[in-house]
Amino acid sequence: MPPTMTALFGGAGPEWTTRRIPVPRPGPGQVVVRARAVALNNADAVMLAAADPSSGGSGEEYRAGFEFAGEVAAVGDGVGTPAVGDRVMGTTPGSFAQYVLADHRHTLPVPGGLAHGTACALPTGLLTEHGALAVAGFRAGRSVLITGATSGIGLIGVQAARVLGASRIIATTRDAGKGDLLKECGADTVVVTGERDLTRAVLDATGGEGVDLALDHVGGQTFAACLPATRTDGAVINIGRLDRPATTLDLDVLSYRHLRVQGVSFGFSRAAELGGVIAAAGRDLLPAVADGRIRPLIDTTLSFDTATEAAGRLRSHRAHGKIVLTVP
Ligand SMILES: NC(=O)c1ccc[n+]([C@@H]2O[C@H](COP(=O)([O-])OP(=O)(O)OC[C@H]3O[C@@H](n4cnc5c(N)ncnc54)[C@H](OP(=O)(O)O)[C@@H]3O)[C@@H](O)[C@H]2O)c1
Repeated sequence: MPPTMTALFGGAGPEWTTRRIPVPRPGPGQVVVRARAVALNNADAVMLAAADPSSGGSGEEYRAGFEFAGEVAAVGDGVGTPAVGDRVMGTTPGSFAQYVLADHRHTLPVPGGLAHGTACALPTGLLTEHGALAVAGFRAGRSVLITGATSGIGLIGVQAARVLGASRIIATTRDAGKGDLLKECGADTVVVTGERDLTRAVLDATGGEGVDLALDHVGGQTFAACLPATRTDGAVINIGRLDRPATTLDLDVLSYRHLRVQGVSFGFSRAAELGGVIAAAGRDLLPAVADGRIRPLIDTTLSFDTATEAAGRLRSHRAHGKIVLTVP
């Protein structure tokens, strides 16, 4: 490995800046991956804005990025797999770099034939959607509502629920033009919020019962609308707050339906717990990644040199799927 590398940093202004820094060395249980491609997430835009000193942000410098794919360049003590040379995809803070330091438990093998530019867009979606389905108690034959389903991770959630045997998948978007995309991913029913009342549409699609479980990426009153759209003894899991974190709930609905409501934020999990979530997602979903039943939708592929353009597209919320950067 060379002594220095290029990495993207936030905290100096509204956009990422490029810097040369030392290449990391792996500690016990860690791997260093020569990243070939990295993918953007909504959290990257949120963190960039929160650290931007020119608009009241903290001004605290941080290494940008979460997802990556590449080849293992070095392993630390106690790492059996992956081995040097293996192709992996994974998640770790600071992934927008030529060499990425990660906990070996936070990587998954890249199935043969899958390009790095595709693989890098999978880890967050696989672990978050599989993890949330597990928290909800999902089993084959259960019906699922997925709000904000056209988000990068939501699209993986729709495909994962299909692969794992959901009896019915109801997916929401604000954009009628994305309905076909959701159906291609496996949604049985698409609800265009703004055109239809979400709760009414879900009850109509489920014979008045409601879905067995809801995965909510939107928050705000969309989260509240999931409660009466979920059947008695069902579960509503909040994953994201694309709209806003505050909501007004009808606690009568919560109590009368005996609903279980839970939030997940896997980025805040302990390393070993996250390793377990990633391993379970890999076990259940990698075969479907390998045979193409689960594929990330790639909106745009840019490079580190055009990272500013990538951030702008992420902020626009006009992307259809994931934005990827190739790593120099
Ligand atoms: N819990 C966890 O561990 C975890 C992990 C990863 C991400 N997340 C969260 O999950 C959410 C999705 O992340 P992502 O990176 O996949 O997002 P993303 O790809 O950036 O999502 C973009 C899509 O979100 C929808 N959207 C944007 N603003 C919205 C609003 N105000 N109301 C409703 N829909 C809106 C739009 O779809 P339409 O135009 O089709 O409506 C847009 O195309 C984020 O809130 C993120 O923070 C949570």
